[in-house]
Amino acid sequence: MTNSNDAPKGANQMWGGRFAAGPDAIMEAINASISFDQRLARQDIEGSRAHAAMLAQQGIISITDAEAIREGLLTVLSEIEAGDFAFSTALEDIHMNVEARLTSLIGEPAGRLHTARSRNDQVALDFRLWVREQCDAAVEGIEALMKALVAQAEAGADWVMPGFTHLQVAQPVTWGHHMLAYVEMLARDAARFRDARIRMNTSPLGAAALAGTSFPIDREMTARALGFDCPAANSLDAVSDRDFALEFLSASAICATHLSRLSEELVVWSSAQFRFVAMSDRFSTGSSIMPQKKNPDAAELIRAKVARITGAMVALFTVMKGLPLTYSKDMQEDKEQVFDAADTLMLSLAAMTGMVSDMSANREVLSQAAGQAFSTATDLADWLVRALGLPFRKAHHITGALVALAEAQGVDLADLSLAHMQGVHGGITDDVYTVLGVDNSVASRTSYGGTAPENVRAQVVRWKEHLG
Ligand code: ARG
Repeated sequence: MTNSNDAPKGANQMWGGRFAAGPDAIMEAINASISFDQRLARQDIEGSRAHAAMLAQQGIISITDAEAIREGLLTVLSEIEAGDFAFSTALEDIHMNVEARLTSLIGEPAGRLHTARSRNDQVALDFRLWVREQCDAAVEGIEALMKALVAQAEAGADWVMPGFTHLQVAQPVTWGHHMLAYVEMLARDAARFRDARIRMNTSPLGAAALAGTSFPIDREMTARALGFDCPAANSLDAVSDRDFALEFLSASAICATHLSRLSEELVVWSSAQFRFVAMSDRFSTGSSIMPQKKNPDAAELIRAKVARITGAMVALFTVMKGLPLTYSKDMQEDKEQVFDAADTLMLSLAAMTGMVSDMSANREVLSQAAGQAFSTATDLADWLVRALGLPFRKAHHITGALVALAEAQGVDLADLSLAHMQGVHGGITDDVYTVLGVDNSVASRTSYGGTAPENVRAQVVRWKEHLG
């Protein structure tokens, strides 16, 4: 027996009332999101449970119905989590799959759950809850990597290595200082995720389709139950913006960019030409033809994976631009981008944490490389300023002449005889040799934020306190 609430045969059982026929197979294929939005199952059910409790508290549905709904939803969740759930493409998305299963479990009360709600506020809610969790996961992943870098910095606070500009040797720096440079970047990345989380933490639930509802709902109650700071103040905004996802993707793209730069350094540093670091076997791969090879594939992949994340960010910006208020189905394209970016970022962070924890810096090689290419020339110029009172520009010029002389003789600055140095500037004394060593050079750079080992040690203490 049918009654007037049932959709005609073949039409969608949730919204098919006005339809005489079901969708074409191609329509179903382009329309359905269940293949990917099933990842929102837990959030969808949490949201529905909060909604049902609120409807009952407000006297909009009976307490008995609300209890049946809340119990039934837990059953649905356990079926999904056990992999015991048959997702249906005909039911389009996670929202309708869950509701249809609830109906088959508890019957008529299930039909009351969607009172004062729409899939528009429902999907905005589910997705927000999902992205909010990913912000927390990103912070956790970033902090694990920061700890691994701080451990490297602590071990090598005074190990000297070349600092580069233009990938040309510039001035000696410490290994610890270089490691902590990434810690600073990652701390800002973590702060971006925390900050985005604060801004996204308002509840869209109760905005309904777009205009709110005539039912006496309590949006404060559902917001609180779901861990939000407050309900979103404008229903049109609540169902139609995805800026929280754009912020998540932007923060992810910046973080992945940092990881990509570190990856590039590890690739270069682990080469036979540099030998600055040795990567562990656990995070390297071999070649199928060249038996001697040990390749830094994880670093290369992280270097490349930023492309997917930045691509996802650009894709969602492009989806959102030009969309009129409020909801448009275009916005269903938000999820796969965010899912892929989040998965990629978490994997990249974990792989980088493993690589950094395992790698060993080659202290001898670093120190030798630090002294090459006249890396202490700036120290020499600074000495001329300090000891002889020369203007820096003049000191720079004299030092340039000394570098040219050393280069012509095929020696380091420290190997130039005093007589030769005095040939360039008569005021130079043998005190100058005290500033030409790389250890002296880094030890002297005690300005705040500078590379001196004592600074590195102080920063290590600060970061260890901060990271706990
Ligand atoms: N699957 C849809 C999405 O991800 C859910 C919202 C559908 N709303 C609608 N009015 N068709 O955006």
